[in-house]
Amino acid sequence: MNLRGRHLITMEEFSKEEVHLILDQAYEFKRRRYAGENLVDVLHNKPIAMIFEKPSTRTRVSTEVAISELGGKPLYLSANEAQLSRGETIEDTARVLTRYVYGIVARLGSHETIVKLAENSRVPVINALTPMYHPMQILADLMTIREKKGKLEGLKLSFVGDGNNICHSLLIGCSQIGMNISVGTPKGYEPNEEVVKTAENYARANGSNVTVLNDPIEAVRDADIIYTDVFVSMGQEAESAERLRVFPPFQVNKKLTSKANEAYIFLHCLPAHRGQEVATEVIDDPRHSVVWEEAENRLHVAKSIIALLV
Ligand code: CP
Ligand code: NVA
Repeated sequence: MNLRGRHLITMEEFSKEEVHLILDQAYEFKRRRYAGENLVDVLHNKPIAMIFEKPSTRTRVSTEVAISELGGKPLYLSANEAQLSRGETIEDTARVLTRYVYGIVARLGSHETIVKLAENSRVPVINALTPMYHPMQILADLMTIREKKGKLEGLKLSFVGDGNNICHSLLIGCSQIGMNISVGTPKGYEPNEEVVKTAENYARANGSNVTVLNDPIEAVRDADIIYTDVFVSMGQEAESAERLRVFPPFQVNKKLTSKANEAYIFLHCLPAHRGQEVATEVIDDPRHSVVWEEAENRLHVAKSIIALLV
């Protein structure tokens, strides 16, 4: 299997075996980092651009560190410093950057924009979050689940909250790998129907299932993994008041987690808002919450993706 030159936009670009390859390589990089090995020979000084239109802590830092530790050069470009902010098109930006760098990691405000970027780029484009998908995050989540549970296939992940980018990428990633996924959202905040259809097709092929409900308790019943994300994503600030009125019954708290399997693990992509989507008693409970390992795995997965694609 050779993934060189490919883009990572939704994760649908890759087969189940290729997703496992990305995870295997991430474990290998994690092992080698703990063993104190030097990895600088992987990228041979190759520059990789990182275009960010939105704030980021984990994605930016883990990706910059990943590129540096692999011996490459991360070039961070906040969108308002680039000519993009003055109307240069994403197509032209892609045509130019392609001549300088060996890969482009991008966090953009619209999904269509990253699709155009990839269509006009001769080097791999890696999606670092759009309003529709966040594949780098979900690969780190799958890595964390496999580490904690020893397998992926057949497990049940329950996502409770907003049918957002994280929910979409979980739908794709879980169904692709043969996990069961149930989603619980308030009415009107369900995930995109096309994404659900894609997930159902993957699930059918893998003998797993996809359920979308408006009842948080039913959604988490017998879950092996409970996952939540913010109720107000970046770019939705104007909807804050309405969302914070509708979402409280979907908070992940002890009452809700009591419906899951006793050995459930809790994941959250972070940043978290304690007291909104998750109660402190859940996110800070070391018996179940694996959010810090999950955040760490962003680094190992970023290395794996870059090493395999670039
Ligand atoms: N989880 C995640 O992508 O975090 P950042 O927004 O800090 O990158
Ligand atoms: N759904 C969140 C994820 C942040 C990592 C957002 O898009 O803001």
